[in-house]
Amino acid sequence: MDKKRFALIGAGTFGQVHAKAYSVHRDAEFAAVCDLDETRARQTASKWGAQRTHTDWREVASDSTIDAVSVATPDFAHTEIAVAMAQAGKHILVEKPLAMTVEECQRMIGAARERGVKLMVDFHNRWNPALYAARRAIDEGNIGAPRFMYFRLSDTQAVPLKMLSWADKSSPLWFLGTHCIDLACWFAGEVPRRAYGCCRHGVLRQKGVDAPDFFLSVLEFPGGAVASIENSWLLPESSPSIFDLKCEVCGPEGNVHIDTSSHRATEITDKDGVHYVDILGEPSVHGQHMGFMIESVKHFVDCVVNGREPLVPGEVGLEVTRIACALEQSAEKGELAVIER
Ligand SMILES: NC(=O)c1ccc[n+]([C@@H]2O[C@H](COP(=O)([O-])OP(=O)(O)OC[C@H]3O[C@@H](n4cnc5c(N)ncnc54)[C@H](O)[C@@H]3O)[C@@H](O)[C@H]2O)c1
Repeated sequence: MDKKRFALIGAGTFGQVHAKAYSVHRDAEFAAVCDLDETRARQTASKWGAQRTHTDWREVASDSTIDAVSVATPDFAHTEIAVAMAQAGKHILVEKPLAMTVEECQRMIGAARERGVKLMVDFHNRWNPALYAARRAIDEGNIGAPRFMYFRLSDTQAVPLKMLSWADKSSPLWFLGTHCIDLACWFAGEVPRRAYGCCRHGVLRQKGVDAPDFFLSVLEFPGGAVASIENSWLLPESSPSIFDLKCEVCGPEGNVHIDTSSHRATEITDKDGVHYVDILGEPSVHGQHMGFMIESVKHFVDCVVNGREPLVPGEVGLEVTRIACALEQSAEKGELAVIER
């Protein structure tokens, strides 16, 4: 079978995961890297074996040898690139959130449909074994239909203050909460009708980043389930893990508890304190790259190579963005938002 040729647009922190996944998939040729920062593009290409580098994504769009692309630019910079790639006939894997407005998501979906290309949004937690096990417990009837769901996904302050140069154009809701919204809908098996959001600014603004410190959300589903979601960028930098993910799903017959950050499967204590290492996301074992973050990109490759539909298509990204927008509106007005569809 001929290998399909993949390109990466946006070679920052998370673009590296896409590059790694393409480089290890036997049906993929990792062909090109594009980043505004030429050095970063070159270093990424050389590390993961891509031949071509670009600083203008339009050159990738006009390269007829490229079959599919990952868009891993900042949250606010997905749409123009994804629409142009779809119009150029390339399959597209877009980092989460798909876009930050409903209209932009609809433009991407429309462009992909028109050219008959695949559009997937990278909600990689759908491949996280801990969260997948919760979904299995629901599907197999072990806990009954979820009545109440709790999600906490927070980062240390290092993420907005040191890692994301564009943190003031995002928020804990967009960067972290969109994962939780996706999971809540996946577990509930439906989308919510009402949403309440609440956020506060202060600590990060004092430190020079104009983003909310935290965002709290409540989602009410038509079937009766309710999800409560906490997302903050306030954890101390000395925390044992850069992120904290916890989840509880309660049904009438049982419940599921998840804690993938303070897991203690491997706890390392050294002169700087206690650390929990990544054993699920993208660990390397004996030089082999694995983990759920790699698996979602590999799924996209499989869809492109075998003509299958992505498990997390653009329409899922649209619904998550619709809900995030309703939550922002609710937080702004201090009122419950009814989600119109
Ligand atoms: N950092 C994470 O842990 C993480 C995890 C999951 C998903 N994501 C998502 O991945 C996406 C990228 O996040 P990141 O943390 O890698 O950001 P980043 O700032 O580290 O990297 C973004 C890269 O995109 C490049 N870029 C920006 N505009 C461009 C353009 N027009 N053309 C080409 N390159 C361009 C930048 O130069 C930069 O190298 C975001 O949507 C984010 O929400 C990030």
